[in-house]
Amino acid sequence: MVYEVYVRSFADSDGDGDGDLKGITARLGHLRDLGVDALWLTPFYRSPLADGGYDVADYRDVDPRFGTLDDFDALVAAAHEQGLRLIVDIVPNHTSDQHAWFQEALASPPGSPARERYIFRDSPGDRPPNDWPSAFGGPAWTRLPDGQWYLHLYASEQPDLNWRNPEVRAEFESIVRFWLDRGVDGFRIDVAAGLFKDESFTDLGDRGRRVVNGPIYSRPEVHEVYRDWRRILDSYPGDRMAIGEVWTDGPEELAQYLRPDELHQVFQFDLQLAPWSAPAFRDVVTAALAAVAPTGSAPTWVLSSHDSVRHLTRYEQSGDLPGVGYARARAALLFLLALPGSAYLYQGEELGLPEVTDLPDDARRDPVWFRSEGAEKGRDGCRVPLPWSGKSEPYGFGREGTRPWLPQPERWASLSVEEQKSDPTSMLSFYRMALELRRELLPELPDELEWLESSGTMVVYGRGDLVCAVNFGENPVRLPKGRPLLTSVPLYGDLLPGNAAVWLKV
Ligand code: NOJ
Repeated sequence: MVYEVYVRSFADSDGDGDGDLKGITARLGHLRDLGVDALWLTPFYRSPLADGGYDVADYRDVDPRFGTLDDFDALVAAAHEQGLRLIVDIVPNHTSDQHAWFQEALASPPGSPARERYIFRDSPGDRPPNDWPSAFGGPAWTRLPDGQWYLHLYASEQPDLNWRNPEVRAEFESIVRFWLDRGVDGFRIDVAAGLFKDESFTDLGDRGRRVVNGPIYSRPEVHEVYRDWRRILDSYPGDRMAIGEVWTDGPEELAQYLRPDELHQVFQFDLQLAPWSAPAFRDVVTAALAAVAPTGSAPTWVLSSHDSVRHLTRYEQSGDLPGVGYARARAALLFLLALPGSAYLYQGEELGLPEVTDLPDDARRDPVWFRSEGAEKGRDGCRVPLPWSGKSEPYGFGREGTRPWLPQPERWASLSVEEQKSDPTSMLSFYRMALELRRELLPELPDELEWLESSGTMVVYGRGDLVCAVNFGENPVRLPKGRPLLTSVPLYGDLLPGNAAVWLKV
């Protein structure tokens, strides 16, 4: 069980409105009581925060907004003391435009070694060198006053590195070692499939960005990098791991990253993309298990992250009864936690936080919002700082009087950790119970999963003598045989209500 900490929004110790490392250290008890095994920290490195820290200006330092290297060391020590592992994000595809290397490249002429660390190209006329789009909208190229263009698969403040340059490769090996030396247990690799681009830089034309064998992602050379990193990870004491953010078109391509001498895990995002439907959930699990089966690596499950609309809100269609998203989110947790493999939770889902859909436009910070000129709202709605206690902003996120970097909704008082922890019916209590029970049951559970029933709106699967049944429909259905261990809502006699799930012992 890994818990994603979006550092800027977790807990603010110094009242500047941004979460920080000391805030996390002070709140580790919440994660221990929740029952997770590890935390994954989103980037806290020196950064102008053009993309929330995924634009790194110095890979070996903590941004002053988030603390110091000493704060980081204290966090590692405290986490380990509490039995929690710590995974950090590494961002190798691009740097910030404020990184010393990019500043040097800007000050150096075309063709210079400084420009060779990035992807600069000439192009006649006013047209960019090719038709590649930025993932955040607009073209993936920006032109400099001297006429050269540079590539950025994301915002223009995030120039892509040239991984064909040995200096880039050596630098990242050194960065990996830097954080391993400080005691991290692993890395989450950002845009892991993107490092190498096909040297022909051909147009995509009407193909999508992510086509198999396309010019942008999963070029064969990328695997050499992860083999090198794996050798480094394995040379450190203890279990050090890496999980890749890999978007692919198919299971064969995904499996390549999981060869025994490459990454330990890759994210499998299909559950996060699946609508609330029995066939959709079942098909996603079948495909995800099949994708990793030949590799022997654990499947990974995600419902929400800092990049997507919170699932509680996603499961609510317009016209649904109020509260249905909440019921479905509880049921989805039981579906997820009985699956074999690793689950990655996103901060705030244990509180049942909804997406904040009514942020004022002038509060928005996501480059998606700016680059789409407001056509897309972006990802700020899932990044609103957590409510810990109290009746009004900042809800214990920071000390009294703190103005969080994104405003918190007025209606969040009842969702705070303090409110929920003593209420046995709350989402937080439910998460704690489910995680605790999972931990107890886990040693006895076989890795294999068996589909017991999958017709209509019901999905029932078994792992040994544990059965998980989910009713995706609206109407109650008869419970499968077994003794209920945990339910997402109270049962009606032997009926499982709609939008509900149960774990049973057979
Ligand atoms: C994936 C990260 O999760 C996302 O937040 C970021 O914007 C992009 N990679 C670019 O680094």
